This record gives sequence, structure tokens and C-alpha cells, in this order.
Amino acid sequence: MSSMKYEDMRARIENIVNQPIRKFKPKELKGIIERYHNNHPKSKEAYERARKIIPGGVEHNLAFNHPFPLASKRVYACYMETIDEVVLTDYLMCGGPIILGHQYKPLIDKVGEVIQEFGPCHGLTNEYEYLAAEQLQKHFPSCEIIRWLQSGTEADMLAIRVARIFTGRKHIIKIGGSYHGWSDQLVFDMHISGTKRLESHGIPKEIYKYIDSIPPNDIEALEQIFKEKKKVAAVIIEPMGGESGANPVRLGFNKEVEELCHNNGTLLISDEVVCAFRLHMSGGQGYFGYNPDLSVFGKIVGHGYPSAAALGGRADIMATVAAGVGGGAKRAYCGGTLAANPLTCAAAYWAMKYVEETKATEKAGRAASRLSHGLNEVFEKYNLPWFSYNFGGTVHFHTSCVFGLDLNDPKQSGQIKIRKDFMDEMGAALVDQEIISVAGSRFYTCMLHSDEIVDDTIKKIDKICQKIE
Ligand SMILES: Cc1ncc(COP(=O)(O)O)c(C=O)c1O
Repeated sequence: MSSMKYEDMRARIENIVNQPIRKFKPKELKGIIERYHNNHPKSKEAYERARKIIPGGVEHNLAFNHPFPLASKRVYACYMETIDEVVLTDYLMCGGPIILGHQYKPLIDKVGEVIQEFGPCHGLTNEYEYLAAEQLQKHFPSCEIIRWLQSGTEADMLAIRVARIFTGRKHIIKIGGSYHGWSDQLVFDMHISGTKRLESHGIPKEIYKYIDSIPPNDIEALEQIFKEKKKVAAVIIEPMGGESGANPVRLGFNKEVEELCHNNGTLLISDEVVCAFRLHMSGGQGYFGYNPDLSVFGKIVGHGYPSAAALGGRADIMATVAAGVGGGAKRAYCGGTLAANPLTCAAAYWAMKYVEETKATEKAGRAASRLSHGLNEVFEKYNLPWFSYNFGGTVHFHTSCVFGLDLNDPKQSGQIKIRKDFMDEMGAALVDQEIISVAGSRFYTCMLHSDEIVDDTIKKIDKICQKIE
């Protein structure tokens, strides 16, 4: 289970959000930012050029480093080299999908063979579609039928459509702070619980008529919703808790949700986009022990090869997704010219095989536990209220802890920006130590993060902590 007890994590989050943030000494921060500019002139130039043609100069939310995004030259093993020839130890791992390490040669070779033989796509079916589906099912027996799609966003979007058709109901409940992609209906109460429509610009509020959320881990709130809205089609969860566990789940919560759902004729959708093969070979459902009706997969299912995603679930429910035009029966419309292309399916098939064969999930999990343990020792040494924990190969470290803010508390609700800004500064301080993180608050590990590499990272974070007031 997680490297720290839920009650302990909760108490530590409360402790951080109830006190002013611990900041960098101004002189140290100035040095960090100056060195960032001096060490990455080509990235800066690339950014200036990109800004003229690409909105905001950067297209990937995770690439938005402070004070400007870094441009890559190449990646290998667990490293990323920028165009300024700075070699960063990579804990971004493309936001989760890389667990074998970058450029895993056997996988590249297999994908290369497919490109030589089929090209990227051709529109007919290919045997890799069912080979990959069988491989996925082996680890996720709850997925009796599987449909390949192009992104986690699409798979989540289809999951709620299928749930509505199958149950004949409309209401969908999500957990506050969770992320399920950016389709109209799911851009709701994301990242920080209680933000509701904060980020839904351009989406008419009527779209949310049948979407609701509950605070994380609050089973009574879900019971109440079931009482008020008897017709709930589905509850959708991120198994580790919102934002890949930045808002950690209480042990037992997922199972309680399952029971409530099944007592009320409601489907449980498990969004395994990050958990599958990273938390556990059988994802959140295998790790925490619950039985979803539908499961959503994304990025890691194809080890980062575009564009891999899938929706799987009970055969009777998934029957609503059968392909083909017309037919009369009510079906969940879905499409995607590039979905289930041979390249993606072959990447998925071989990636799942190699992850199993190499025990990559276990190795990444061990590296993550070592890292999170080491970070806690460092934070304690410097008497910082910060803390770290991991769920398998995902390490969170809470410093300003923006995800823990309680928006119903007027003292905390105005703090999103300043706490987010500190995380940006932390991201820059990590780059200063030649480490790339996810948003200055998360590390994804892979099987190549050896003890030596992890220990070196811990030493570098010790240096960062010396720069705090
Ligand atoms: C839990 C979860 N669901 C869905 C998505 C969306 O997936 P994609 O970026 O492939 O659309 C993400 C992306 O980070 C995610 O973390």
C-alpha cells in the first residue's frame, strides 16, 4: 500500500495548508532563476520562436516549466538531454507512460518492424488488435471486452456515454480534484477539490446538469447523493486519489464506492490511465482490490507510443460499443480514424509483455519507495513541514501543497496562486540540480532509476532544502 498511512498524510497536508509556505531565501531564488536563464539559452530561444506560432509557446501542460519550457535534444534510459546539452535525470517520464526507461531497445525494434511492414495505419483490422487486448485482459480480468481508442480523454468520454446507455440513467459523479481528461463534461472540479467550474471556460454550464462531484474520500457525501439522485449512471474514480494520488485516497474508499454503486444499480468506472502497470500490473483495481464495471486506459498502455488508450469492461456493458454503422440498437457512438492502428497495438502488446518480463513495475515501485523515504529524511533534517509518499512508481512530495487547499476555508481559498508559484520555483530549483520533475511536486520512476541514481537525487534535494528560509 502507500508508504504512509492515510491519517498521517491527511494530518501532514492539514499542517502545511494551515501555515504560511516555507519559501526560498530571496538570494538563493535569484541565483536559481539566473542560472536557469544562463544554462538554457537555446531552450529560451526555442521558446521565443515557438511563441510566435504556437499558443503560449508550449503545447503540453506538463512541459510548462518555470521560467520557460525546456526543449529536448534526446532522451535515453532515465535521462533527458536538452538542446543546451544539459542532462537531466528524468522523473517526468512523459507524465507516467515510460516505465521501461526511454528508448527500450527491444520495444523500438518491434515497433520498427511494424512500421516497415504496415506503415503507421491502413484502416483494416490487424491481429495486434486482439493480441494486445488479450494481453491487457490477462492483467485486468474485469475487462471482458476491450475497445482501443486514441487518448485517455476519449476513453473517459466514451465510458460515461456507455454507462448512460447501459443504465438508462444520466447522472455521473466524480471525485473532487480528479482528472479524467478534457472532454466538455469532465472539465469539472479538477486538480483541487471544490474548484467545480473554475476551468470550464467555453463550456456552457448546462453541460454540467448531470455531472456532480463529492469531496475526496467522503463516502457519506456519496451516500447523500445516492439518496438525492437515485438515478446515478456511474461514479468515476482515480484509484490512487485525485491527480494521481496528490490528493491521496483513503484505504478502503474505492471498495466502499464499489459497494455503494452496486447497491444502487450504478456502474463503477476505474480510470486506470496512470495506475495500470505503474501502480501494479493490475492497476488500481488489483492493488486496492475492487471490481469496476468499466476501466479506462491511456498512455502507459502503449508505453507512450501514440495513440494508445482503451475502454474495457463487462461484456454486456461493452456490447453497446460494437462497431459498424447503423443496426438499429442503441449504441454508444465512437470512432477514431487512427484508433487501434497496428503501430499502437503492437507497441501496446510488446510493452505489456516487456513490462511483465522485466518486472519493471516492481522495480519502479522500489525506486519510488527509496526516493520518498529519503526525501522524508531530508525534510525532517531541515525541520520542514514537507513530506513525501509513494503509490508504486508515483512519488508525491508536498511542499506548498496546493492540492490540499480547502476552498471552503476563506483563509485557504485565496492561496492557490502563491502555492502554485512556489511549486513552479521548486521545479526550477530541481532543474538547477539537473532533475526534471512533474510540476515541482511529483516524480515518476522507471525500472532504470537505480539505488545510486535515487540516492544522488536525494542528495541534490538536500542541497535545495538548504536554500529554504
Ligand atoms: C487519470 C487520467 N485520466 C485521463 C487522462 C487523460 O489522458 P490523455 O492525456 O491521454 O487524454 C489523464 C492524463 O493525464 C489522467 O491522468
